[in-house]
Amino acid sequence: MGLGEIKYFSSIGSTNDEALAWANKGAPDFSVVISDEQTMGRGRMDRPWFTPAGTALAFSLILRPTTAEKPFLSRFVGLAALSICKPLQTFGLNPQIKWPNDILLSNRKIAGVLIELVWAGDDIKCVVIGIGLNVLKRAVPDTDVLRFPGTSLESALKREVQREEVLRDILGAFVSLRPELGSDDLMNQWGTALAFRGKQVRVEMGAGKTVVGRLEGILSDGSLRVRDDNNKSVTVQFGDVSLRPFTGILINR
Ligand code: ATP
Ligand code: BTN
Repeated sequence: MGLGEIKYFSSIGSTNDEALAWANKGAPDFSVVISDEQTMGRGRMDRPWFTPAGTALAFSLILRPTTAEKPFLSRFVGLAALSICKPLQTFGLNPQIKWPNDILLSNRKIAGVLIELVWAGDDIKCVVIGIGLNVLKRAVPDTDVLRFPGTSLESALKREVQREEVLRDILGAFVSLRPELGSDDLMNQWGTALAFRGKQVRVEMGAGKTVVGRLEGILSDGSLRVRDDNNKSVTVQFGDVSLRPFTGILINR
């Protein structure tokens, strides 16, 4: 599958908002909205995502899922996360995926993925995949606004890298992985890259419900499996869910 069209902005509210609007107006498959700066960047649950000018990658892919892909839409977040991991691995780094949507380097968040869907009646018309990656140190907000510690490629590599190079490699990885969406191999790669795998974690499920247990892996639909302290297997679905290491001095809130 080839690339669609590209829209570049020097500043925008959120590339996901622009991508959702463009998707509704007929953007072709694999179109990209990219901006140097975002003034209203969003994470999950409308939490803010900061993208200061000249420091980061912030872009959104518009996909028109094929009939073969539609049963596997919940895997796109893993596919996107793995596509971010590949270029980081090429730099010799060891990225991990904090389920469901964050990429960590040494337990610090370097990137996030925000998936949004465009519906036509009860059919999915488009999947918008927003990706934010901190390239320079200046991309990382002050600790007091973070729910989890942050980092950047510059901090990890101790040198600056060209954003274009990283963008090209993420898109390249995405294009290579996309045909694997329905495969066991994709799930194995995703499972292997999970942060805190085999470790004690705390999952905050919203409405005051918390599960504590050992992170076992992910299921075929991308949901998380945790073995709780009563040795019961608990499946955690996507949603307003926050995963944290059970003990950790790194957590702000
Ligand atoms: P959880 O860890 O509970 O899954 P989260 O803390 O990662 O969720 P998200 O909605 O996934 O929350 O991401 C938004 C959060 O990311 C913000 O609340 C903020 O703490 C953090 N954040 C915002 N901008 C950046 C950035 N450029 N780099 C790192 N972290 C950021
Ligand atoms: C998260 O960690 O919750 C996801 C962060 C996703 C941020 C990206 S930056 C490009 C795109 N535009 C947005 O407003 N959000 C996503």
